[in-house]
Amino acid sequence: MAKNSMTLIDNRNSKSYEYPILDATRGTNVVDMQTFYKDTGLFIFDPGFTSTASCTSKITFIDGIKGELRYRGIPIEILAKEHSYLEVCFLLLQGYLPSSSELIEFDLEIRHRSFVDEGLKNLIDSFPSHAHPMAVLSSAVSALSSFYYEHLNLKDQSAYNEMASRIIAKIPTLAAFAYRHSLGIPFIYPDIERSFTENFLYMMRAYPGGKMKITQDGEQHIKQVEIDALDTIFTLHADHEQNASTTTVRGVASTGAHPYVAISAGISALWGRAHGGANESVIAQLEMIGDVKNIPKYIAKAKDKNDPFRLMGFGHRVYKNFDPRAKVLKKLQDQLKEELGLNSHLLEIAQTIEKIALEDKYFIERNLYPNIDFYTGVILYALKIPRNMFTAIFVIGRSVGWITQWIEFKKDSNSKIARPRQRYVGK
Ligand code: CMC
Repeated sequence: MAKNSMTLIDNRNSKSYEYPILDATRGTNVVDMQTFYKDTGLFIFDPGFTSTASCTSKITFIDGIKGELRYRGIPIEILAKEHSYLEVCFLLLQGYLPSSSELIEFDLEIRHRSFVDEGLKNLIDSFPSHAHPMAVLSSAVSALSSFYYEHLNLKDQSAYNEMASRIIAKIPTLAAFAYRHSLGIPFIYPDIERSFTENFLYMMRAYPGGKMKITQDGEQHIKQVEIDALDTIFTLHADHEQNASTTTVRGVASTGAHPYVAISAGISALWGRAHGGANESVIAQLEMIGDVKNIPKYIAKAKDKNDPFRLMGFGHRVYKNFDPRAKVLKKLQDQLKEELGLNSHLLEIAQTIEKIALEDKYFIERNLYPNIDFYTGVILYALKIPRNMFTAIFVIGRSVGWITQWIEFKKDSNSKIARPRQRYVGK
């Protein structure tokens, strides 16, 4: 019997089965159970995959107990403080931080690829104005597959790079178009003289003809502090290992479908309020609570087993400690409080909820801490990003993570079609 293995005994017939334990470089090791069904004729029942590792990955590491997150080995706190979102994109895709010349080249490529085919404007125009930007974005990204239906030469790294650059560059444009369509105002084309994050704010805010609103003191309507805050938010969202939307992307990838439809499926999965849609729900919930005096009533509802109400922006499948992204954002929130003057009423409600929940036995026992969406909701609100665009902002940040995971899946010789089994209890 190998030392690094696990023996399982079927008590019905006393047969034993041995499975190797595979080491991880950091974090939780895995038991390799790939032959389990063949050996035993049984399936492993694990709804929600709480104990299942679906792949081997080198991209992102999370220690949920310690509250640690690293992209390609580098702590998120360092990346958020010292590097731009585009540097982080390069890091995720290539495995190392770019040199200054590599960054200039990558940045220029993203700027030049930010335009979308004119035909996509017609697609977006065909949606009703009340369509949620996430519905439009998911459809538009799926439609991208028809504009770029080339067959990828999987031996050619430049084909992967081109596909990834297109996704990173075009999603902000499509997101801004989706938003402007919801207001019935003309689309603003990308301005290649602007940086990635500034350009997104520009496409959202500019007047027809590309003119920016000028404030009374002659300042343009995009402040550097806003660009920096949004860039940090993109970085914090860039990847998060095998979360629900990434698992969706990998699942669609496993069927051999076009990468852009896999990303579109990821966008749809992200939209739900248990996942990326939580940032929009946080603000909706704070507005519903309406006043600090109503908080105890809603905390009681969140604790009531017979009430489906949940405190949005609290809890996480993996983090059983403070979400490290939330820690970075809490600091950013305090900084912006001074510089942008956050809406004090909503912030007061948010901060009171946070304080009460962190001291409440129910939340302490279940390790329910504020997550990334709790703070992004409040910060995006302060940046005057319309509420229906909050989850689209998450999409922009996560697009690089999805495409990086897609590439890893494609390059992994052990990848198989995702096809779980079931426990049948019907007639
Ligand atoms: N409010 C009140 N109770 C909660 C909450 C909450 N937000 N989250 C979990 N619980 C309770 C839950 O009722 C359960 O209690 P009990 O053990 O008594 O049955 C316990 O905590 C464990 O919850 P779970 O649903 O089994 O945990 P999960 O890992 O399946 O779900 C989650 C994780 C994020 C879906 C969940 O915490 C949740 O719904 N949170 C609110 C939505 C949210 O903020 N989502 C954003 C997640 S972070 C970013 C992202 O992934 O996009």
